[in-house]
Amino acid sequence: MKGPIWLGPKRAAALAERFGTPFYAYSARTLRTRARALKRAFPDAAIRYAMKANACPALLAEVRRAGLGVDTVSPWEVRLAREVGFRRKEIIYSGNMPSDDDLRAVHREGVMINLDALSSLRRFGRIAPGAKVSLRVNLDVGGGHHPHVITAGPESKFGLAPEELPEARAIAAEHGLRIVGLHQHIGSGIFDVGLFLEALDPLLALLVDFPDLEFVDAGGGFGVPYRPDEKAIDLEAWGAAITERFRVAARRYGRPLKLMLEPGRYVVCEAGLLVARVTTVKRTRDRVFIGTDSGMHHLIRPALYQAWHPVVTLPARERSAERCFVTGPICESGDLLAEERAMPVPDEGDLVVVGNAGAYGFSMASHYNLRARPAEVMIDGDDWRLVRPREDYRDVVRRRDVRRA
Ligand code: LLP
Repeated sequence: MKGPIWLGPKRAAALAERFGTPFYAYSARTLRTRARALKRAFPDAAIRYAMKANACPALLAEVRRAGLGVDTVSPWEVRLAREVGFRRKEIIYSGNMPSDDDLRAVHREGVMINLDALSSLRRFGRIAPGAKVSLRVNLDVGGGHHPHVITAGPESKFGLAPEELPEARAIAAEHGLRIVGLHQHIGSGIFDVGLFLEALDPLLALLVDFPDLEFVDAGGGFGVPYRPDEKAIDLEAWGAAITERFRVAARRYGRPLKLMLEPGRYVVCEAGLLVARVTTVKRTRDRVFIGTDSGMHHLIRPALYQAWHPVVTLPARERSAERCFVTGPICESGDLLAEERAMPVPDEGDLVVVGNAGAYGFSMASHYNLRARPAEVMIDGDDWRLVRPREDYRDVVRRRDVRRA
């Protein structure tokens, strides 16, 4: 992979010509490289790719072929994972605030259910007495690239507090539920393995209170650099430190125990690009706006988290850089793909390529303003194929009979 923008100008132009814009492009090779690196760094672990990061079926199929399982968060994620060919035991469901229907549907699929509220546990016990279950805990250590993605700590809606665990065990006992897993996920975009270990240690200290455990799931959250000044994590070092801690705890536990991890971003982020076309260059009194045919409806991360994504325009223009605002057609001033970015102002008709868009890009896209979601193209070396066509009007309006609405 040659930097975050791995698609050359010729191929970008050819794909844009062929499929129109905007489209997401995914590199199967990068994805496989990431999956391999994870498996190598964590030899004891079952890696469950968090498919919320990107649930494109063709991409999931690559993930499956690379030997990872999946972490899911909704009944339809479970359903799609099954359709793509993941086996039941390769799937874990970590729902938050699940409805009874969610619990029933996931239980029917026969996958491991990970719960994080006493109420969910009680309701699950009534729905599936005697089942196996895993508990998600919140041990007060959280982190992440933005407050919205910190998923543990006193203000978080996720996980059971340590003081709730005796009652959780009592509820499980009452319904014959067997607690076979302990889980935590502290947040997303973590660069400091020290923080990860700070959360892992108290998790491992809980094992003694749970005699039936089959696995410990330490979550995902592995950071990926977006800005040029951010450094990639040392995955080998993470692997060594986490594996060491886990092995000591597992030995002390004395029964076979599996480590699970559920990275999403790490697997797919750098494998994805969003390619759009410049529709409108607009100079106002104060600003230069580069208007494109994509925007916050396709990649909401800059608008939602003020996330910084690498952006280049193609073809390269030999012009001095100006501070540009890259935006889209959406009726909101927050509709930005890049804010105050020093770059040469492109011509209308040029392409805009946004890097690091494989994770939480398409998966968070919407139909806001009745816009179609982009096409998706899988690139594998010299091969490419359209893996999901751009939506049309009927997809967007859900095939409702508008005449009778
Ligand atoms: N496991 C659980 C239970 C999770 O909630 C998540 C992410 C993951 C694993 C995967 O985390 P990752 O390895 O991808 O960091 N939309 C945000 C990220 C939200 C993550 C939510 N949970 C973003 O675009 O930064």
